[in-house]
Amino acid sequence: MRTNIMITISTLLSLIATPVLSKEVKVTSPNGEIKVTFSDEQDQLSYNVEFNNQSVIDDSALGLVFKEQAAFADGFKITKVEKSFNYSKWEQPWGERRVVEDNHNEVIISAVNAELNNAIYSIRARVFDDGIGFRYEVPKQDNYKQVEIVKELTEFTLADAQNSKAFWIPARGWNRYEYVYNETPVYEAQHVHTPVTFKTSNNVHLSIHEAALVDYAAMTLNQRRPGKYIADLTPWYDGIAVKTQTSFKSPWRTIQIADDATGLLNSDLILNLNEPNKLGDVSWVNPGKYVGIWWEMHINKAAWGTTDPNAPHGATTENTKKYIDFAAKYGFDGVLVEGWNEGWDGDWFFNGDVFSFTKNYPDFDIKQLADYGAKKGVKLIGHHETSGNVTNYRNQMQDALDLYQDLGVEQIKTGYVADGGNIKRIDDKGIVRKEWHDGQFMVNEYLFNIEEAAKRKISINTHEPVKDTGLRRTYPNWITREGARGQEFNAWGTPPNPPEHIPMLAFTRMLSGPMDFTPGIFDMGFRDQNFQQNGQGAKINRPQTTLAKQLASYVVLYSPIQMAADLPENYEAKMDAFQFIRDVPTDWEQSIALDGEVGDFVVFARKERKTERYSGHDWYLGAITNEDAREIEVSLDFLESGKRFEAQIYRDGDKANWINNPYDYFIEKKPVTSEDVLTLKLATSGGTAIRFKALN
Ligand code: NOJ
Ligand code: CA
Repeated sequence: MRTNIMITISTLLSLIATPVLSKEVKVTSPNGEIKVTFSDEQDQLSYNVEFNNQSVIDDSALGLVFKEQAAFADGFKITKVEKSFNYSKWEQPWGERRVVEDNHNEVIISAVNAELNNAIYSIRARVFDDGIGFRYEVPKQDNYKQVEIVKELTEFTLADAQNSKAFWIPARGWNRYEYVYNETPVYEAQHVHTPVTFKTSNNVHLSIHEAALVDYAAMTLNQRRPGKYIADLTPWYDGIAVKTQTSFKSPWRTIQIADDATGLLNSDLILNLNEPNKLGDVSWVNPGKYVGIWWEMHINKAAWGTTDPNAPHGATTENTKKYIDFAAKYGFDGVLVEGWNEGWDGDWFFNGDVFSFTKNYPDFDIKQLADYGAKKGVKLIGHHETSGNVTNYRNQMQDALDLYQDLGVEQIKTGYVADGGNIKRIDDKGIVRKEWHDGQFMVNEYLFNIEEAAKRKISINTHEPVKDTGLRRTYPNWITREGARGQEFNAWGTPPNPPEHIPMLAFTRMLSGPMDFTPGIFDMGFRDQNFQQNGQGAKINRPQTTLAKQLASYVVLYSPIQMAADLPENYEAKMDAFQFIRDVPTDWEQSIALDGEVGDFVVFARKERKTERYSGHDWYLGAITNEDAREIEVSLDFLESGKRFEAQIYRDGDKANWINNPYDYFIEKKPVTSEDVLTLKLATSGGTAIRFKALN
């Protein structure tokens, strides 16, 4: 049963409430390496953070500014401090690891302004060994009933900004989160989305992000002075950031801190700061693998609509049966079908007003296909593209979800393709309002969709989402999402994702949660016949990886549902390599980032979780690199000692390189134990994927 059981091994709570005399409140991580100090000495609350006795965040202001009422800024004095600590373990219904440890020290600091009729707010902070989280908690009070937050004063002042590097994408851009990551000096990272990663001259790695973004605006970071970032909340159409009433709490502002790059990847901080599962029994949320009528549209082989003069309609009954047969034959759980419903004809980017979410095109017999799939043990995966008209979707949402529920559909991919700031909603007076994908309105809209889907035991894979902040813990049916440049950019070539993209995603976007990247492109020559035949010549509009790197990406890029994105015939042409995609699970007992540097390379080992299909004994490894070929030594000491495994290794061939020899791969098998060390040889933009099959 997939439930979110809370096994509290020991929850020790010591509450010390002190009327405070001192102006400083300190709280350290359980291992003592991280120390956070809050202070009211500057007349406005502030905090700083030390890691191993060195400042990583210098004094940084805290506070909120309201449209109507006086700001929570100057004049607030700490009046009460409550400290506690927690050690517990909880279980994920699905995830990178089954059991998560939550070990932290907590402090709640209340601050009062006597000049403002004793206006009061609190900061709740939790300090873990892998970083900190803090949030504003504002109780009900007379002068602050209905409030409109116009800005947050929260700062993050990087102590070593001068010598640090930033890994980032721009915020508030037209393409939402779908930008190539930048690696620059900090001063060039002016206005960025979170999670954003920093590396200091001492090799300290920081990731600033937020957890549990609910009924609030997303936080972006704006560099107001060199190294000093201030929270910049994405506004509503009218410029207000957050419309709410007391009592309310902000999302957690998080800083993950590690002394190397992989330390960021082995952190559970974001999940630990989210609320436990609210959905009860979620045994109906099923990780798995899928194929779909998808890539053929992106490479213009088929069309979403029915009237395209250049390509046939992809979502036909016949074509879907072909995919269902393929899925059944090779053990896939689902078939995604895009372009099945009325509204795609013409340029669908502009069709947000006309999409029907219940009417299928006549050449797509949805009932027959659901039955056909059921007979073969394959689920249809639903698709709702809104083109950003969320009112049109909202008006049909109940019926649309009911339809899929009746057909036995368990997962739906949603889409919100619209430029940033151009989500169209129609307010209760009938007036069109334009919103951001990460403003408070959309934060609530996405979650509404998740809750409605949950009522029908349906899981959602959101494309063009708001960024992930760990809400999958609370709503395990929010199974994955996009929220970065995925494989689709390699089809369009606008431009394709560069070789460093995946090793960059691993240390940035992936820190927020699972991503539906859709790996597994085997035919890199879809834009060029010559390349298709002999693999020669640098071709731009295609994945800039080797084939082995496509395989390794299944292990590196975590998602509980993974697509095999290419066309069936391209897998059948390379059955030996396809075997890895067939074997690799998507749900893990344990995950360990073994090695890596931001944007350069990364090595993950993951142990499969025991399910009906998987014994729970095998391990998998994925290693990938950027444009540089490299050799990486990997100690297999993560394997259980005394056990024998067969390593099934899918690696770059000796002559492989992504530019003109991406198909050179080699598959070998050898016996290994935890005593062994493997030397992985990765080609330029290459990879190694390994299944360690348990032998005894
Ligand atoms: C954008 C999604 O990311 C992509 O996967 C999908 O095919 C299109 N929207 C059409 O819905
Ligand atoms: Ca997209």
